Amino acid sequence: MIELNINGRTQSVDAAPDTPLLYVLRDHLAMNGAKFGCGLGQCGACTVMVDGDAVFSCLTPISIVAGRRIKTVEGLGTIENPGPLQRAFIDEQAAQCGYCIAGMMMRAQALLEKNPSPSDAEIRRHLMPNLCRCGTQMRIFRAVRRAAQAMQAGDGASERSRA
Ligand code: FES
Ligand code: FES
Repeated sequence: MIELNINGRTQSVDAAPDTPLLYVLRDHLAMNGAKFGCGLGQCGACTVMVDGDAVFSCLTPISIVAGRRIKTVEGLGTIENPGPLQRAFIDEQAAQCGYCIAGMMMRAQALLEKNPSPSDAEIRRHLMPNLCRCGTQMRIFRAVRRAAQAMQAGDGASERSRA
């Protein structure tokens, strides 16, 4: 058994140490926010956070994240009470098929936790590893900028308390 700290909760998982974190999230824990896209570290659909950094969970064996802080899109808010980043994505209608969105949000969350006031260029550069095949990059970009503004205006308190 391996113990994982996911969204502030300890979860015991019966899986081989080299099992990718993405498979454990989806197949063992029914946390289906992170998506399988390429399985090769090339699309970002599987992005989650580990100790504050965005990582490709398809390439991350659970053995190296045991005892570390894992955050997934499920930790950003709920349907009833979406967090600032989720609200901004809704307000900007940033999703078409939605497949890339959980990964986009987690990469953006990692940026905003380190740099609450990123420039437009910093947002674009940071999101670069994550692909959107539907072509909503401009809406995603605007959503991240909107979330940064909301968090700076004080809407981030509830978000940080979930960390
Ligand atoms: S599924 Fe992990 S980067 Fe594509
Ligand atoms: S919204 Fe469809 S891949 Fe991004």
